[in-house]
Amino acid sequence: MKHLLSAKDLSREQAVLILDMAEQMAATQARQVKKLPTLRGLIVVNLFFEDSTRTRISFETAAKRLSADVINFSPKGSSVSKGESLKDTVLTLGAMHTDAIVVRHYASGAPYTIAHSGWTDASVINAGDGTHQHPTQSLLDAMTMRRHLMGPNPLGQGLDGVNVVIVGDVLHSRVARSGVDLFTTLGAKVTLVAPATLLPVGVETWNCDVSYNLDQALAEVKPDALMMLRVQKERMSAGGGGFFPSPQEYTREYGLDEPRLAALPKRTIVMHPGPMNRGLEITSGAADGLRSVIVEQVANGVAVRMAVLYLTMTGAEGGEA
Ligand code: NCD
Repeated sequence: MKHLLSAKDLSREQAVLILDMAEQMAATQARQVKKLPTLRGLIVVNLFFEDSTRTRISFETAAKRLSADVINFSPKGSSVSKGESLKDTVLTLGAMHTDAIVVRHYASGAPYTIAHSGWTDASVINAGDGTHQHPTQSLLDAMTMRRHLMGPNPLGQGLDGVNVVIVGDVLHSRVARSGVDLFTTLGAKVTLVAPATLLPVGVETWNCDVSYNLDQALAEVKPDALMMLRVQKERMSAGGGGFFPSPQEYTREYGLDEPRLAALPKRTIVMHPGPMNRGLEITSGAADGLRSVIVEQVANGVAVRMAVLYLTMTGAEGGEA
């Protein structure tokens, strides 16, 4: 696979291959010497037009663990602040023989444009584009679910029979979109829960159920995995833009708190892609509690990104994902 642009492009076989490869990569990270020579001599550029902590550091760690050279680009301090276009930025990287471009951009579709523009021969990996897709996030989420929910040997498996409930700001969430695509490809059933104002137009055509009532959805679905989404204030106009009446009301209707946590089945894992608004969509008790796998999600992110960089940059498996 040359690029990873969307979770939608992955077949079940490709997704399972990436997850299995990520398990192999994770095993190497338990060794004392964690660095592999696999991508020695190759250059990975992190091209991040939007803020990021964990995704950027995770890609950087993954690339370095595979011995690639990593260049971090952020528009602040670059010629982008002088008005240089995406095209000229990518042409410049292409002229420097960059082997992979990991791109996060506020415009949905930017990674696709870079991959198919002819501006560069590099592999393009989408690290989040607008409200559209974030495929490596859904892969790390699937890896985390598979480890917890699919028995002692997850290798070769999808997520058959797993019930996933995703709660919150679906409207602005590329995590939710990628998650619905990937988890259902892997055999899971997904239910989205949100106020009507935070659901996108056309959500009824997505391959999932939709509910406006969290308590009812939790009681009916009895989720194996409960994923809380961040309320993405930066994508709302100042003051919340009328998406919900008040933070208190949002928390009361859609927040994960101790009573809701206590009512979940014993096996349910609690997930969040980060960064969290503690006290808004999730309480600290839920975020740090025994069922929380939020820190594991971050650790699995490195293994998944090692697998994706390896598979795209070495062309280890045919076709474009
Ligand atoms: C997510 C993102 O940027 O889409 N964060 C992440 O990559 N871990 C989710 C979010 O910002 O809420």
